[in-house]
Amino acid sequence: MYKKLFSKIKKNEISVAVIGLGYVGLPLALGFANKGFRVYGIDNNTDRIDRLLAGTSYITDVTDAEIVEPVSHRAFLPTTDFGCIKNCRAVIICVPTPIKKKYTPDISFILSAVRSVAENLSKGTLVILESTTYPGTTEELIAPELERGGLKVGRDFYLAFSPERIDPGNATHTVTQIPKVVGGVTPACSILAKALYGKIIKDIHVVSSPRAAEMCKLLENTFRLVNIGWINEAAMMCHKFDIDVWEVIDAAKTKPFGFMPFYPGLGVGGHCIPEDPIYLYWKAKEKGCASRFIKLSADINSAMPEYVVSRVKDMLSARGKILKGARVLIMGVTYKKDVKDLRKSPSLRLIDILKRRGAVVSFYDPLVPFLHLEGLEMEGAPLTPKNIADQDCVVIAVDHTNVDYKLVLKNARQIFDLKNIYHKTVSEKIIKL
Ligand SMILES: NC(=O)c1ccc[n+]([C@@H]2O[C@H](COP(=O)([O-])OP(=O)(O)OC[C@H]3O[C@@H](n4cnc5c(N)ncnc54)[C@H](O)[C@@H]3O)[C@@H](O)[C@H]2O)c1
Repeated sequence: MYKKLFSKIKKNEISVAVIGLGYVGLPLALGFANKGFRVYGIDNNTDRIDRLLAGTSYITDVTDAEIVEPVSHRAFLPTTDFGCIKNCRAVIICVPTPIKKKYTPDISFILSAVRSVAENLSKGTLVILESTTYPGTTEELIAPELERGGLKVGRDFYLAFSPERIDPGNATHTVTQIPKVVGGVTPACSILAKALYGKIIKDIHVVSSPRAAEMCKLLENTFRLVNIGWINEAAMMCHKFDIDVWEVIDAAKTKPFGFMPFYPGLGVGGHCIPEDPIYLYWKAKEKGCASRFIKLSADINSAMPEYVVSRVKDMLSARGKILKGARVLIMGVTYKKDVKDLRKSPSLRLIDILKRRGAVVSFYDPLVPFLHLEGLEMEGAPLTPKNIADQDCVVIAVDHTNVDYKLVLKNARQIFDLKNIYHKTVSEKIIKL
């Protein structure tokens, strides 16, 4: 059965189901559709399925044109019906893995998706989990769920974990260009997962187990969390020493080995860096191993909006102004440059703190015309010379491309520039982080 599936994958003779059509699942589904597979894209969000069927994208990195063609040729079939899994010999799960309050993973999305797979699982199917999760999830949680109907992993169906590594907004490293790590429950599971991804991705790195693949993703994301935490701490130190942290980073990165630049900012946002390391933290704690690095870095990063408010307060007071009643414009509310994603964006916390301290806050973001969030309803302000000049302080929180920062520099009274975009040319006007 394993050899038959291998040969069918090699000849593109299977249909693939991708469950969860978000930032990860949609580009992946299109990747397989573009390489000649029939792909069923399953999502329980009917609005998303309707939009895909109408040929419109809701993801920054996917254009409408990229959806229209595979949908019209029936290479990509968006649906809410899990029954289509019966037609598929490969199923890839890309559902969210958020955290609950109190540093606990929320694996309910994975469990729900896996139960839907189990109800429709046929013999000879390869199931792969891509959602980021704690080490052990695939073997301890998913395998037993899928085996409930009597099928046995490695004998009747195949199971692997393969972390997704996409970087939203990054046009150079897209889903099919980033090397893929796979870890199967059995060697046959790994071989099949490698064969499947090998159809759309050049470099596949096989590890010995799903656990190793799960840990690989958490190592990568925790590495980022810790280094961002350290550079934010270093930025606060540099400010005390009256040293330009950006100058220091530029100098340090001339070292051709042993250093990798990270940059200070408002903290971390999105679905990955603030959440994934918590999965590891939680599981490690369960095993009696407390991770001090994760907790410390998460604490430093989440305190950054508060730190920025204190700096804005100091800037204003240097001009005889107080924060209460001051007009502050936040430029950029997404969690990341050029990506229309507000999840866990530290800019939102910055707005919240400033408002609670009595500042008159407005925002401008070319990707977000208004904020409709729980406890935060705001319409974006126009980026006009008058509006900029009316502000007591402009905070550049995210440096989206195609924003006229020169207009801001020309008209603003005071700028707090996290990314220090123009520090070399107008340093006298910018107070650095
Ligand atoms: N966004 C990233 O940059 C990124 C990068 C690498 C890995 N990841 C990981 O990939 C996973 C998915 O992240 P994402 O950003 O694509 O999430 P997302 O929220 O953008 O998309 C998830 C999709 O899954 C759907 N969904 C939820 N439960 C479902 C169910 N039971 N059945 C069918 N559909 C369901 C949702 O409606 C949504 O469309 C997460 O584990 C995340 O940590 C994300």
